[in-house]
Amino acid sequence: MTAVFYRGVTAHYPTAAHSDGMYIFDDTGKKYLDMSGGAAVSCVGHQHPRVVASLCQQIKTMAFAHTAFFSNPPQEQLAEALAAKFGEPGAKIYFTSGGSEANETAFKMAWQYWRALGRPSKQKIISRIHSYHGNTYGALSISGNLTRRRVMGELLLDWPRIDPCYAYRYLRAGETLADYALRAANSLETMILQQGAETIAAFIAEPVVGASLGVVAAESGYFKRVREICDQYDILLIADEIMCGSGRTGTFFAHEQEDFLPDIVTLAKGIAGGYQPLAATLARAHIHETFVTTGRGFDHGHTYVGHASACAAGLAVVTVIDDEKLLHNVRKQGDYLQKSLEAAFGDHPHIGDIRGRGLFRGLEIVADKVTKTPFADEKNITKRLKQATMTHGLICYPGGGSLRDNLGSHILLAPPFIVEPGHIDQLIDKLRAIFSDILDN
Ligand SMILES: Cc1ncc(COP(=O)(O)O)c(C=O)c1O
Repeated sequence: MTAVFYRGVTAHYPTAAHSDGMYIFDDTGKKYLDMSGGAAVSCVGHQHPRVVASLCQQIKTMAFAHTAFFSNPPQEQLAEALAAKFGEPGAKIYFTSGGSEANETAFKMAWQYWRALGRPSKQKIISRIHSYHGNTYGALSISGNLTRRRVMGELLLDWPRIDPCYAYRYLRAGETLADYALRAANSLETMILQQGAETIAAFIAEPVVGASLGVVAAESGYFKRVREICDQYDILLIADEIMCGSGRTGTFFAHEQEDFLPDIVTLAKGIAGGYQPLAATLARAHIHETFVTTGRGFDHGHTYVGHASACAAGLAVVTVIDDEKLLHNVRKQGDYLQKSLEAAFGDHPHIGDIRGRGLFRGLEIVADKVTKTPFADEKNITKRLKQATMTHGLICYPGGGSLRDNLGSHILLAPPFIVEPGHIDQLIDKLRAIFSDILDN
């Protein structure tokens, strides 16, 4: 019997009892290899001694002081550290508790920015199909994750969405990747012209799409063209790096690997590595200055904005990433992970694509590799994969809907940045057994 209202109301979950490095142990002593950091959260591994010590020290010194009354040292230091990593001086960071809140903050920044500039008709936010920006009302309205939206029916706002840049499914026969990248980006311009630029506040996209598509990076040139279009039509560009940021792809910000600077970047998950709930909305200097110079201010706030203990965890995680040179390991082990997946499953009849950047990798699962047809919905592949991974003592992140609606399955891998080749070899063995249970039968 339990008094917990679980996320899956009829689901049974093992109880996580303790964790260490790459592993979580349940209360029966079963060991789970964590190859997705939950949902791309535990970036420095579990129970990292330096993070635990910094967090304990902050809690002993001052756990919380409401930021409507005070600032606090971890908030100041973390903001400075993140601003220094951004590609332009003067960025300012607004701290909240989770990814959805970070995106809601970004949307409000965009709306209030245009109001401050006397252009209140700029309201709509364009997003992409197969994108996920959160589960609060505004963030889900703007998301393109159809499975998660469907349950809310007509209650959600229905704003414009364009197709993602997803060459595996949208590249036309005979088209080069460079041409496709331009075609995909130009669909943003078409949408802006259809809607009227004076009605559009912002465009939001994940530089590397996470849970909705199974780790899809845009083709080279896509974001550069998107940036040009946004500049041409006075549209703010929001990079949702909640999953792909904080070092996951091998650079601190995922957009660093594309040739553009967003106006606003949102971070969460890896930013505090799961040690505390923390998220960040980074605004470029010109956005912050607009709120200052127009005298309009930025009207927003939650109780836990800039929470001292959460920021202390974030500061410790970012310091560990830098001091232990973990991004080097992200790139090195990321290459090893990709090569190992290709060697083991490149010829598998149901693994259609193996892709990603750094320690952010995805496998797309198909019924037929030539036609790229997904398994029928009734086969419940995504759900069965999740169950099988847990049975085999593996945590990874299976997801659905990469073709449309419920159709299409993928597995997302996002191991902690401390991963070693031995863990990757274990992953491959476990995946072999899981695929043989679920896909080969
Ligand atoms: C890209 C992206 N944006 C936003 C969110 C929402 O974050 P949260 O679940 O912390 O509210 C997520 C969560 O998975 C995400 O992957």
